[in-house]
Amino acid sequence: MSMEFLANFVYILSSVLFAFGLKFLGSPVTARWGNILSALGMLLAVVATLVSGHIVSFQWILIGIIVGATLGALVALKAAMTQMPQMIALLHGCGALASVFVAWSAYHVHGAGDLTNTITLYLSIVIGGLTFTGSGIAWGKLSENLPGKPILFAGQRLVNMGLIVSIFILGVFFILNPAQYHLFLTILVLSLFFGIFLIIPIGGADMPVVISVLNSYSGVVACTTGFVIHNTLLIVVGSIVGANGMILSIIMCKAMNRSITNVLFGGFGAVIQRQGPGEKRQAKSISVEDAFLILENAKSVVIIPGYGLAVAQAQYAVRELGEFLEKNGCDVKYAIHPVAGRMPGHMNVLLAEANVSYDQLMEMDAINPLMDNVDVAIVIGANDVVNPAARHDKSSPIYGMPIINADKAKTVFVIKRSMATGFAGIENDLFYDDNCRMIFGDAKQTVQALVAEFKTSQH
Ligand code: TAP
Repeated sequence: MSMEFLANFVYILSSVLFAFGLKFLGSPVTARWGNILSALGMLLAVVATLVSGHIVSFQWILIGIIVGATLGALVALKAAMTQMPQMIALLHGCGALASVFVAWSAYHVHGAGDLTNTITLYLSIVIGGLTFTGSGIAWGKLSENLPGKPILFAGQRLVNMGLIVSIFILGVFFILNPAQYHLFLTILVLSLFFGIFLIIPIGGADMPVVISVLNSYSGVVACTTGFVIHNTLLIVVGSIVGANGMILSIIMCKAMNRSITNVLFGGFGAVIQRQGPGEKRQAKSISVEDAFLILENAKSVVIIPGYGLAVAQAQYAVRELGEFLEKNGCDVKYAIHPVAGRMPGHMNVLLAEANVSYDQLMEMDAINPLMDNVDVAIVIGANDVVNPAARHDKSSPIYGMPIINADKAKTVFVIKRSMATGFAGIENDLFYDDNCRMIFGDAKQTVQALVAEFKTSQH
């Protein structure tokens, strides 16, 4: 049996492990196994590649592994959970750049090959180039190293159109005559510019969706590069990443009531500051002590976590509060909005970290029909995902976005530090409802104070 055959066999095995890994990642109960299986698949793939006999230089690979692993570990250790979206942007940007380099070196060493090879080589440098710079801009916007506002200038659409047309026409020439190195380089440079111009007009608010789309592109470029170097594993894994990223982008857009074309080509996504209604409204606040008295008598409580819970790292305190409520004979559920926080599954991850039971986590569609019968909804560091304006105010930028109907509960407590707006930059009508009381303060400290009340009442 040749080494090549063996390596291909291991690649198929790795692909199967990736597929099962992904399947297992679909549920919090099996997610750990999902990670382990996928990591095992990757390890097998790396080993198979190293022993397959095509390696040009082991020294350079070793240097690459050391530099990459050190940088990766440093960045990952430093990144807070809330910085995960920009970290993902950076990682996919690097993945796309790696694919460009692989395709480039294949072209440099072996030439473009047959027509299919030349087309996939062309696609690799175009998609890889724009994904690399686009991801860099997305990282800059999310990490606030670049202004989050859309960067617009006169004739922008014309410039973008010009870039697309040039990349296309030069591509046709290159495919017809692949020996022209200068065409290859020009297409690459134009694609790098295109990535910048494509992403700068999109506002920071839409960046998480953009990152998910770029993630999908990084999969597509891995796939096309797989064709360039005839590597089955890259083709399979690239397609999986490409499809996953696109599915995730669509799910995110649906949860925000946006279309993907609207996000990518709208030239907006700015945080829109809506004018408040003419009259000055007054929200009512409540002390922790009084809130405790109401909670002590509640038979059902729904906790609605949001971005502020992640910032305050209040998940452990929240679990403790949930346990005290349950001991008190209260039914406790956690309502999870699909885009609460700043990345998909953000709230699930936090609550799982604090060992909140999975059975208590309810998806938006499952909890909403029950909200009318809930005694108290406790909104913790969430804002946009409970804003009823999304249901009825046609002038609101979030109109049509599905929300958790916290306002339908008999009483609503909102724990946040001030009346400040959330991600969408708009006022929240919920805070002014008659059944709503604000508990001002940091999420963790406030929930800990509520827990302390339960503790004292039991002594
Ligand atoms: P947001 O609407 O962003 O509101 C978060 C609230 O948390 C803020 O109003 C803030 O008010 C409060 N807060 C911040 N730090 C706090 C702390 N230490 N203690 C207590 N409260 C704190 O959050 P959300 O309701 O989770 O909505 C998510 C938003 O992000 C949506 O607009 C969604 O479309 C957007 N988004 C989400 C995703 C994904 S995939 N999750 C992706 C893209 C965009 P104070 O400053 O007054 O405390």
